[in-house]
Amino acid sequence: QRHLISAADLTRDDAVLILDTAEEMARVADRPIKKLPTLRGRTVVNLFFEDSTRTRISFEAAEKRLSADVINFTAKGSSVSKGESLKDTAQTLEAMGVDAVVIRHGASGAPYRLATSGWIDAAVINAGDGTHQHPTQALLDAFTMRRRLVGRDAGIGQDLSGKRITIVGDVLHSRVARSNVDLLHTLGAEVTLVAPPTLVPVGVESWPCEISYDLDSTLSKSDAVMMLRVQRERMNAAFFPTEREYSRRYGLDGDRMAKMPEHAIVMHPGPMVRGMEITAEVADSGRCTVVEQVANGVSIRMAVLYLLLGGNEPAVTHTRPPVS
Ligand code: CP
Repeated sequence: QRHLISAADLTRDDAVLILDTAEEMARVADRPIKKLPTLRGRTVVNLFFEDSTRTRISFEAAEKRLSADVINFTAKGSSVSKGESLKDTAQTLEAMGVDAVVIRHGASGAPYRLATSGWIDAAVINAGDGTHQHPTQALLDAFTMRRRLVGRDAGIGQDLSGKRITIVGDVLHSRVARSNVDLLHTLGAEVTLVAPPTLVPVGVESWPCEISYDLDSTLSKSDAVMMLRVQRERMNAAFFPTEREYSRRYGLDGDRMAKMPEHAIVMHPGPMVRGMEITAEVADSGRCTVVEQVANGVSIRMAVLYLLLGGNEPAVTHTRPPVS
């Protein structure tokens, strides 16, 4: 059984194959009828134990564009609120004949447990687990960077070698930062993390990236600046500088954006906290790719589902599965 649990599990060739397949899938979105028959007769369940807007909706759009049967499950309103376990929930879904489970969970490691426990036979795709990983977010971010910094056609078969990416903010609680550091390193990019000292994880020295506490000194050397959401729901007050202080030292406003090279882009995984981590002027500027990232997320999720579940009618040529 093949799964996608962590961006760290992907080789460079795996990742480039997913990005190239996503370019093929994006062409489907440009057609009047945005559907492929590839997953007809296959059932995918979206199992969301944590809130989501972008990831849940874009997985559902991707599944429907590939003609899969889709079951949406959210913990709120389910028997999880009566104390039902992950194992029993998963086995209930398995009994209904599910081919893939897309899971978001507040506990780091829940998708890995589901994939390796033997509770179910379905493919497992991690849609974000605790502070651990969010691999499809990292893939859609890499896809967006490759398109903007290398080119849509020029990028096919290419990685992000030599691109300088700065990731700013609440790294401590960010599965997006972890996944991006892993994938961007695999794709040859140079990553710098910028964060308040209280929001840097223990052991970050062993990550394949640089650490800085000074945003202003990194901006002119960045091809992309990725702002992170401050995850107040995961922290107590002691972790957090005041909003004003955070915004003054780590927020991206128009003056700071002007220090970036002309070609450089601003990214954000969403949801954005406007005013604190990013100003409206920056969020709504043509250099900010936040809406593009959401659109690209559908193509990436179509590619991952296609490559994991396969289909009777190949949409793209590929030689081997992307993940194990
Ligand atoms: N980027 C992201 O994961 O957003 P959602 O929490 O809305 O899915």
